[in-house]
Amino acid sequence: MLKMGLLSLFFHFLFLSISSGEISSQVGINYGQLGDNLPSPEKSVKLIQSIGAKRVKIYDANPDILNALRGTDLQVSIMVPNQHLTNISTNQKLADSWIQSNVLPFYPKVKIRYFLVGNEVISSSPKEIWYSIVPAMRKIKNALNTHRLNKIKVGTSMAMDVLESSFPPSNGTFRSDIAYPIVKPMLQFLSRTKSFYFLDVYPYFPWFTDSNNINLDYALFESRTIKYTDPVSNLTYSNLFDQMVDSVIFAMEKLGYPDVRIWIAETGWPNAGDIDQIGANIYNAATYNRNVIKKLTAKPPVGTPARPGRVLPSFIFALYNENQKPGPGTERHFGLLYPNGSNVYAIDLSGKTPDSAYEPLPKPTNNEPYKGKIWCVAARGVNASELGSALSYACSQGNKTCDPIQPGKECFKPDSLVWHASYAFSSYWSQFKKTGATCYFNGLATPTAKDPSFGRCKFPSVTL
Ligand SMILES: *[C@@H]1O[C@H](CO)[C@@H](O)[C@H](O)[C@H]1NC(C)=O
Ligand SMILES: *[C@@H]1O[C@H](CO)[C@@H](O)[C@H](O)[C@H]1NC(C)=O
Ligand SMILES: *[C@@H]1O[C@H](CO)[C@@H](O)[C@H](O)[C@H]1NC(C)=O
Ligand SMILES: *[C@@H]1O[C@H](CO)[C@@H](O)[C@H](O)[C@H]1NC(C)=O
Ligand SMILES: *[C@@H]1O[C@H](CO)[C@@H](O)[C@H](O)[C@H]1NC(C)=O
Ligand SMILES: *[C@@H]1O[C@H](CO)[C@@H](O)[C@H](O)[C@H]1NC(C)=O
Repeated sequence: MLKMGLLSLFFHFLFLSISSGEISSQVGINYGQLGDNLPSPEKSVKLIQSIGAKRVKIYDANPDILNALRGTDLQVSIMVPNQHLTNISTNQKLADSWIQSNVLPFYPKVKIRYFLVGNEVISSSPKEIWYSIVPAMRKIKNALNTHRLNKIKVGTSMAMDVLESSFPPSNGTFRSDIAYPIVKPMLQFLSRTKSFYFLDVYPYFPWFTDSNNINLDYALFESRTIKYTDPVSNLTYSNLFDQMVDSVIFAMEKLGYPDVRIWIAETGWPNAGDIDQIGANIYNAATYNRNVIKKLTAKPPVGTPARPGRVLPSFIFALYNENQKPGPGTERHFGLLYPNGSNVYAIDLSGKTPDSAYEPLPKPTNNEPYKGKIWCVAARGVNASELGSALSYACSQGNKTCDPIQPGKECFKPDSLVWHASYAFSSYWSQFKKTGATCYFNGLATPTAKDPSFGRCKFPSVTL
């Protein structure tokens, strides 16, 4: 009896110590602010709570947002924007003053728990800055320790393109230009400080690029039958997300750090996009996000084949559709909410709403590649002087790109900037899409399946 008692006491302590060191499986939200029509921080915080998020990640340390988070239970991740990394990496005083002005005024009333030093720096910033990441992380960590803020974890977010290979998952390998100079010291820092590798992982992109070979249901966690067994690890996969996460785990293992915990810093699926971006629709976005939330909040935790049963803490991307994000249409359509605060589709980040409680979704219409002609036209409501510059640029490229819009020619009338720019964009795109040109022009242009041709004027098109 006594032995049994001691044994169970022992297990009791073991359990307690594990659970206190273990992070909870709650799901958070990325609160991006690249929109000119978004609700106030106060309203946004209420919306974040209303969708069941327990954590929120912001891309800076915006004091208005931090003020709005004061006194809430939300665990908060803040960020030093990429352009500050170089200076902070060489100057401990600057790191200290960053903490003094951006953390101390809010802590502990705002539950700041995570501090990201840059956002996808290796994917989005010039090479010089890459070498600042780890030194800046160390200086930020020192500054936090000085103020006894030891429990704030320091990390940086990484996209999947830091890997040179990710398939099969056991073949996951960091790019050779960064593995030893940058990633290895980073992993050493994350391991020593018991922090996390903050991973941005979007099954949408590999599926989109290779939709002939990757099953959509496999990318959406909807397949019950498709299994892939990695021939080297013998681990069996039933969805693309697990494959992607495990490729990072195998890559870390190759550098000698098999145990650094993963934090899903961003994941999501676009609810809309351009005409040539298949699979971006409300049905798929709701399906992906509901399924990933179910997985991430499962009790007990499911983990991934390489780390079964382990918690994967996470932030879904993103709170809002953000109309000022550059790039193709999908970039501006990752939101769970429209800018007016209403839901794009019903969602519950707490994972407590069963699928049966959701209303039916609109059926997807663009899961198959669009086949037919498309054109590239001026987007609505854009800046006229910028549109004029883009028109001149497009006309200066290619062969006779803008001849038909010269005075007296068949496309001159109606003589308007939007009309001429639309012609020029279509003409430009029809010549250069094959060499990789996009119909974007810094947000001034958008692809369409509706033929803009009028009267004798025929717009050049691209055939998909
Ligand atoms: C970095 O420091 C240099 C030299 O002090 C300064 O000119 C520059 O504005 C700083 N950069 C940023 C982003 O603060
Ligand atoms: C593993 O990755 C390397 C590149 O790092 C690639 O050349 C090779 O084809 C991959 N192996 C398999 C089986 O795909
Ligand atoms: C995978 O299975 C094969 C065949 O059963 C075996 O030879 C190999 O050692 C296994 N590999 C691992 C990593 O378990
Ligand atoms: C919010 O915006 C969406 C998309 O523009 C629209 O469909 C919806 O009706 C709007 N909701 C309200 C309450 O205005
Ligand atoms: C249009 O863009 C130009 C150049 O970027 C800028 O100077 C101007 O203020 C903008 N106009 C409006 C109305 O936003
Ligand atoms: C322009 O015409 C030349 C000669 O016919 C051709 O070699 C070139 O590829 C054309 N450029 C484009 C963008 O179509």
